[in-house]
Amino acid sequence: MARSWQNPLRDERDKRLPRIAGPASLVIFGVTGDLARKKLMPAIYDLANRGLLPPGFALIGFARRDWADQDFGEIVHDAVAEHARTPFRESVWQRLAEGIRFVPGSFDDNEAFQRLAKTVTELDDERGTGGNHAFYLSVPPGAFPVVTQQLAKAGLTGGDGWRRVVVEKPFGHDLKSACELNAIVNSVFAEESVFRIDHYLGKETVQNILALRFANQLFEPIWNANYVDHVQITMAEDIGLGGRAGYYDGIGAARDVIQNHLLQLLAFTAMEEPLSFEPSQLRAEKVKVLRATSPVEPFDETTARGQYGGGWQGGAKVPGLLQEEGFAPDSTTETYAAVTLAVQNRRWAGVPFYLRSGKRLGRRVTEVAVVFKRAPHLPFDSTATEELGQNALVIRVQPDEGVTMRFGSKVPGTTMEVRDVTMDFGYGHAFTESSPEAYERLILDVLLGEPSLFPGNDEVELSWQILDPVLEHWAAKGAPETYPPGSWGPPSADAVLARTGRSWRRP
Ligand code: BG6
Repeated sequence: MARSWQNPLRDERDKRLPRIAGPASLVIFGVTGDLARKKLMPAIYDLANRGLLPPGFALIGFARRDWADQDFGEIVHDAVAEHARTPFRESVWQRLAEGIRFVPGSFDDNEAFQRLAKTVTELDDERGTGGNHAFYLSVPPGAFPVVTQQLAKAGLTGGDGWRRVVVEKPFGHDLKSACELNAIVNSVFAEESVFRIDHYLGKETVQNILALRFANQLFEPIWNANYVDHVQITMAEDIGLGGRAGYYDGIGAARDVIQNHLLQLLAFTAMEEPLSFEPSQLRAEKVKVLRATSPVEPFDETTARGQYGGGWQGGAKVPGLLQEEGFAPDSTTETYAAVTLAVQNRRWAGVPFYLRSGKRLGRRVTEVAVVFKRAPHLPFDSTATEELGQNALVIRVQPDEGVTMRFGSKVPGTTMEVRDVTMDFGYGHAFTESSPEAYERLILDVLLGEPSLFPGNDEVELSWQILDPVLEHWAAKGAPETYPPGSWGPPSADAVLARTGRSWRRP
């Protein structure tokens, strides 16, 4: 298959020239969904606005709607106007709009896929896309088989140029279904043309974990079981699940975000240094560390599961999960999940990794906190260090992106008293440019054929392998514990850490 277009005069190492995608089209299935409207379409515009899309770029929408190209263009326009990160510029929009097409049809309609094939060929002529096409499946996994097979049948998976497929999670609901799904996708697209989206990997602060660890001398020497007491990975959201029952009921917090985002954060935090940032090298290290990771038992003590109840949050009355529209009145879906994981290798032996995530918690925050052991000896009066906690390095993924270091310092005065202080790096202070949205980076990488930030199917399968025993245990246990909205989860979550004398950070 031909490589993506490259400027022969360009030196790969020259950072002054941004990486610009070659001529290509992006075909989106599921354009009427929230993701397309709120994230994908705005990200495409932002890329165009930053000059990172080629003049011949084309965007094709496919959906069961009676729309003409212009109608779809209007939908994209409104989504961009409402959600784009960068300012709206008419000239950029006009250029983008010229390449917008719409193909009406349902997934089981052979003729619709023939029309899609025709549209794609026309674009190759009109806009010079040269047979380079990416198919974005922003559809439920149940639709993967039919869409991929229809693409194959319509001759859209081969030919001149490159063909890639982008798939959104959930990649199955356990190891078995993930393997089945991977087999279906791989029966049509070779693994190197499959781009699985984990949008956390598109976040600047997540990629920065690699820079922090491997570009510096300061942290790596203490990044191991000799110095680290434990690691806490938290993804908290204050929003509830109104409007998302169709996707979330029966899925729950562990499958929704621990299986993917949080385990990827764990992999970046715990992996060994890759030989290089070649995609295959990076993935090899992630696979290795995930293979060494397993859940700690007994699960009744090392994991926790909760479901938000109704009540007051931030001055507003909010419904509990069971009252949210579309959820079964006896749903046992968890909206909060915490697990304890062990990474069995020399670097991490004996260091628990605690992962937690929940909806309707105190506030929206994602962070990785590496908590260090106490100093082996404190040559102070015991009263001097009463206020001293454990040193910690906290990677603030969002919001207020940055890194905080917490350590003890003498309180000014005539006596020796040591208390925790923090030293802070914030993106807002350190850099003038604002970070791109995760989807901008990831869509650009798809068009460039750059797979580093996309989990391979072995990573996906290993993540399920880690989580499956916990999910099976929970499945046999009935309803999760209720927690009040605006709190930090159920009491059993605190007990998970308390059993070893630890406690969750209040982020
Ligand atoms: C998605 C989950 O992957 O991530 C959602 O399905 C969650 O449930 C979302 O709300 C959060 O993304 P972010 O980027 O706002 O942390």
